[in-house]
Amino acid sequence: MKNKIALITGITGQDGSYLAELLLKKKYKVHGLIRKSSSFNTKRIDHLYIDPHNRTNFFLHYGDLTDSNSIYNLIHNIKPNEIYNLGAQSHVGVSFENPEYTAEVSGIGTLRVLEAMRFLKMKNVKFYQASTSELFGEKYNEKSFNEQSKFHPKSPYGVAKLYSYWITSVYREAYGLFACNGILFNHESPRRGETFVTRKITRFLTRRKLGSNEILYLGNLNAKRDWGHAKDYVEMQWRILQQKKSEDYVIATGATHTVREFIVAAGKLLNLKIYWSGKGLKERGYIHEDNRKKVIIKVDKKYFRPNEVDYLRGNPIKAQKKLNFKPKYSFLSLVKEMINEDLFLAQEELNKKR
Ligand code: NAP
Ligand code: GDD
Repeated sequence: MKNKIALITGITGQDGSYLAELLLKKKYKVHGLIRKSSSFNTKRIDHLYIDPHNRTNFFLHYGDLTDSNSIYNLIHNIKPNEIYNLGAQSHVGVSFENPEYTAEVSGIGTLRVLEAMRFLKMKNVKFYQASTSELFGEKYNEKSFNEQSKFHPKSPYGVAKLYSYWITSVYREAYGLFACNGILFNHESPRRGETFVTRKITRFLTRRKLGSNEILYLGNLNAKRDWGHAKDYVEMQWRILQQKKSEDYVIATGATHTVREFIVAAGKLLNLKIYWSGKGLKERGYIHEDNRKKVIIKVDKKYFRPNEVDYLRGNPIKAQKKLNFKPKYSFLSLVKEMINEDLFLAQEELNKKR
């Protein structure tokens, strides 16, 4: 049997790296689109790379979702069986500062991939679009969001992703492409970018545990998110493309926690009991150390978004039934893995300083 060929945009990101590992294990030939950067941006996938002069199933190509020709040529040359469009300007807060760029990459970028598939008449190629729970954003008398829930994006990122969601659906209907949206709720891991809230917290608390005196500045502590593990979620990205029919799926745990709850859970794993005082911008998180109260967390309005999605909780029933979605990680085992890996990293940093 010939190896299947996959193309992953966003292969250097959190999900891209886990998905590449999964597909290589399944004997795929994996091709990834990477951006030219003046410093190395391949840290998450370096362990997979083998010089292509030797035998390998892993190939990297320079390109960009803002560059139609690079996408067209790549798809034309490698002739993938499956395309996973994970590339995006994926930070919601940053999308308020760079709205046009976010629309170009996270919105029109998707159209560029779909157009390449259409021009190349690639009807047998399967396409996965990394859609998001940021499409929802407003709670309309419902406890959780499913595939039928109303969309109400609250950020330039959410709007760009809404375009991608609909253009994927339109190309499925209009041209008969096997094109699917995975509407994924927040998923984290030790590979999560350090400016997303969970990783910002685990990086900080583990450094604090090893003696750092920094203060953690955060925004909205009351926001609620449905946090799962990226490893569980990339497996669903693959399964979505293995179905007979192209459809859209919500992937979520079905549980929700505040940012504050995440901090408390992470602190507990490090034996740091965190107390809270004050409200709003005056809220502080502190610990008792050396018989003194030490403030370690402060709220800074810089980290609030101009518009916030307050509550996200997904309803994964369709994925449970049709994809047999059974996550291996719980909320606590996710936090624990992140804490353990970041503790190791903090120790390494400390050793280097000594
Ligand atoms: P991530 O870690 O931020 O990775 C984003 C990837 O996109 C990186 O490889 C990045 O490359 C690449 N990229 C950015 N701009 C690009 C451009 N102009 N051209 C080509 N590639 C570009 O994101 P993630 O957490 O893995 O998420 C993967 C996808 O799922 C994203 O589309 C995200 O919006 C979506 N999503 C994520 C979540 C979540 O909770 N993680 C939930 C729902 C949906 P560099 O490494 O060079 O920056
Ligand atoms: N990043 C960040 N930094 N978020 C903070 C901070 C902070 O200092 N303080 C509070 N928050 C709050 C945010 O306002 C938000 O309500 C919540 O923590 C989670 O923020 P992020 O971790 O940045 O993730 P996100 O939910 O905005 O977006 C992520 O999940 C989406 C799926 O729902 C990203 O991965 C998106 O790409 C993804 O689509």
